[in-house]
Amino acid sequence: MQEQTYIRDVAEHVGQEVTIKGWLYGKVDKGRLQFLLVRDGSGVIQAVVFKRNLSPEVFEAARALTQESSLIVRGNVRADERAPGGFELDVADLQVVHLAPEYPIQPKGHGVDFLMEWRHLWIRSPRQAAILRVRAHIIRAIREYFDTHGFINADTPIITPSACEGTTTLFGVEYFDTSAYLTQSGQLYNEATAMALGKVYAFGPTFRAEKSKTRRHLTEFWMVEPEMAYVDLEGNMAVMEEFVTDVVQSTLRHCRPELKELERDTTLLEKIEPPFPRLQYDEAVRLLGEWGVPMEWGEDFGAPHETAIGEHFEKPVMVHRYPTKIKAFYMQPDPERPDLSLSVDMIGPEGYGEIIGGGQRVHDLALLEKRLEEHCLPREPYEWYLDLRRYGSVPHSGFGLGVERTVSWLCGLSHIRETIPFPRTLGRVWP
Ligand code: 4AD
Ligand code: MG
Repeated sequence: MQEQTYIRDVAEHVGQEVTIKGWLYGKVDKGRLQFLLVRDGSGVIQAVVFKRNLSPEVFEAARALTQESSLIVRGNVRADERAPGGFELDVADLQVVHLAPEYPIQPKGHGVDFLMEWRHLWIRSPRQAAILRVRAHIIRAIREYFDTHGFINADTPIITPSACEGTTTLFGVEYFDTSAYLTQSGQLYNEATAMALGKVYAFGPTFRAEKSKTRRHLTEFWMVEPEMAYVDLEGNMAVMEEFVTDVVQSTLRHCRPELKELERDTTLLEKIEPPFPRLQYDEAVRLLGEWGVPMEWGEDFGAPHETAIGEHFEKPVMVHRYPTKIKAFYMQPDPERPDLSLSVDMIGPEGYGEIIGGGQRVHDLALLEKRLEEHCLPREPYEWYLDLRRYGSVPHSGFGLGVERTVSWLCGLSHIRETIPFPRTLGRVWP
């Protein structure tokens, strides 16, 4: 194969001849002059095709190019302020790799349902590609944080015998002659690996048969879940705020061009640093009443409540000590107020809702057995989990951050469906 220069790197090649391999994103036909907008995944460059510089056949081939045809162009790089991206290519040679028939996605005027139907092609648009690049960076920053803060990556199974987050959102799978579920969370297994390795994290896809159609829910989403032995709720919150700050600041440093493409106002993101506001559930309920979005004590927050909390603070808010009865079976009760749990959710600013859920886990065997019963969970699939309380049980805590909610927030998106290459939602398993 010929050598290849990526558009992202053309600034280093001004005055030199380079070969760019990509696709035609757009074209302006000025007769003897053709302006081709070529994209290669790393960026877009304007390639100027001048009739007199090419053989007639090659010039005609350039003229006949259709949107998303694939091509290889060779030419000289010129810095030009007027050009999109600041550089142009004076084309000396051009090769059509594949001439595409009429492309289904036109620059303007499609509804979201149409675009979702063509998601496999829609991801080629600069905006979608920018989101996916930010997503990739966020994932890198997440791993970087844990890998450099003493956490061991210990991934957890996708096929599991038991529920972690309640039995109403389980996807069942046939498993030879028995049945199993797709994991809702790696947490229970993290608690085992944390007792082996101290501080761990799992990172992978998680599944919830969410019957709700909202802009914050997918049925398949990615979650990073750290778990720490000998860490209490306070320690957990300290890690949460430091970790989220790290991911936000790293994304701002590395994804400037993408955030610009997305027209993201980054003013509030720049201000994110510890400490984050901490709000006890009781206090949150009282404030929500004052703000005109009242709710009963003992209820869980709905989207309007999360939105209101997020909008009243500039930074993510850590709401802690939710009523025990609305949280999962594994939440440790507050010793001073057993009706409250040592749970914590992080609510994103700017109306992005809950991005983290976590807390301190029950470490007492008898209490955990009682909890399983109260939640009508069968004992047998959790026997191994109970063993963790039989053999050297210690206080421990952890949390889970939803990758797609984080991408939504940092990119400033109004819907979670654009945060993952191929979203899975209540009504969609295609493409
Ligand atoms: O609050 P959740 O349900 O917490 C847990 O699963 C814990 N077991 C995690 C732990 O402590 N190890 O989910 C954690 C996060 C949410 O805050 C949200 O960001 C994301 O996962 N999330 C979803 N994201 C997209 N679509 C959904 N249906 C989601 N459900 C949860
Ligand atoms: Mg939650």
